Amino acid sequence: MGADLAELDFTLDACEIPLHSAEILEAKAREALLAECRALLEKRGAVLVAHYYVDADIQDLAAETGGIVADSLEMARFGRDHPANTLIVSGVRFMGESAKILSPEKRVVMPRLDADCSLDLGCPPDAFKSLINQHPERTVVVYANTSAEVKALSDWVVTSSVALKIVEHLAAKGEKILWAPDKHLGDWIARETGADMLLWNAACIVHDEFKGKALNDLRRVHASAGVLVHPESPRSVIAQADVVGSTSQIIAAAKSLPNQTFIVATDRGIFHKLRLECPGKTFIEAPTAGHGATCRSCAHCPWMAMNELTSLKQALLDMDAFEIHVDPDLGRRAMRPLIRMLEFGAQPASS
Ligand code: 13P
Ligand code: SF4
Repeated sequence: MGADLAELDFTLDACEIPLHSAEILEAKAREALLAECRALLEKRGAVLVAHYYVDADIQDLAAETGGIVADSLEMARFGRDHPANTLIVSGVRFMGESAKILSPEKRVVMPRLDADCSLDLGCPPDAFKSLINQHPERTVVVYANTSAEVKALSDWVVTSSVALKIVEHLAAKGEKILWAPDKHLGDWIARETGADMLLWNAACIVHDEFKGKALNDLRRVHASAGVLVHPESPRSVIAQADVVGSTSQIIAAAKSLPNQTFIVATDRGIFHKLRLECPGKTFIEAPTAGHGATCRSCAHCPWMAMNELTSLKQALLDMDAFEIHVDPDLGRRAMRPLIRMLEFGAQPASS
C-alpha cells in the first residue's frame, strides 16, 4: 500500500536531493574521505595549513580542525607559531618549503610534492645568481613564490600583502632593488613606490591570463561592481581595480566595501571563502577570454588543483613519502630574509 501522494508535504521544487545518483555517491564519498582525514589529522597530532585556492572541502577542514585558511604570509606565520610538531601544508611547494625553513624542527607534509608554481619554475637559481653578480649595488628582494635556493640568495623575501610596504621602506633609504620573479607585481610596486627596480621576467600562468579589454567590457555590464585584483595580474587589469592586494586583502575588501557585486581577478578557488565571508554578495570571475586567450585560461592554478582530498588522505597515511626536506644549511640561509619579512610585517603600521 503506497501513501497518498497528495497527503505528503513534499514538492519537487522544495526537494534538494541531487538529480543524479553519481552526485549522491560523490557527496557520500567526499564525506567519508573528510571523516578519514579528520581522524588522521587528530591521530597524527597535525595541523592543516591551507591556501584560499585549494579545494573548498580542504579549506573547510582546516578551519574546522583548528588549522588555518590564509594567504601565503599568514600561512608562514601560522605554521611557525603553532605548537603542533607536524604541519600539513595544502598549497604549492614554496609554501611547504617556507614552513620547513621557518620551523626546521617540525615535520612538514604536503598532499602533493610536485605542486609547483610558474614563478618558482621561471626563476632558476643559477641564472638568478648571475644577475645578482652583475648588480652587486642592488638590494635583492624576491617574492615568496620562489625556491629555497633563490630565497637564500636574497636580502628580503616578500609576499604580495607586504611587498609594497617593504619596497617603500627600502626606497626611502635610497636603496635600488633587484626584483624577482613576477614582472607584473614588480611593475606595480615600482609604479606605486617610485623605487628604482630591475625586474626579472616571469609571470603567474593564472593571473597573466586576465584580460584588460574584456574586463572593461564586463564592467559596463556590471556598472556598480567593485573590482578586486591580485597584483600578479597584468597592468591593464590592475589599472581598473578598486583594490589591489593579496588574497587576504581581497577578502577583507569584499567584506568592508559597500558594493553588492564584485568582479574578482584572482584564482577562482578564492570564491569559496568570499561567499562564506560575504553572504548575499555576488562575485563574478574577471574574464580570461578575449584576444590572446589560451587553453589555460580557466583562472584556476593547476598546481593548487592537485590538492585533492584523496592526496591529502594519502599524505596523512604515509607521511614519510610526502614530507618536505630542505638542506639544513640552505634552510638557515633562506630563513634570514623570511624572518626579516615576518618581523617587518609584525611592526605597527606607523613604525
Ligand atoms: P597570496 O600571498 O596573495 O595568497 O598569493 C599567493 C599566490 O600564489 C597567488 O597566486
Ligand atoms: Fe604560482 Fe600562479 Fe599558482 Fe599562485 S596561482 S601558485 S603564482 S602559478
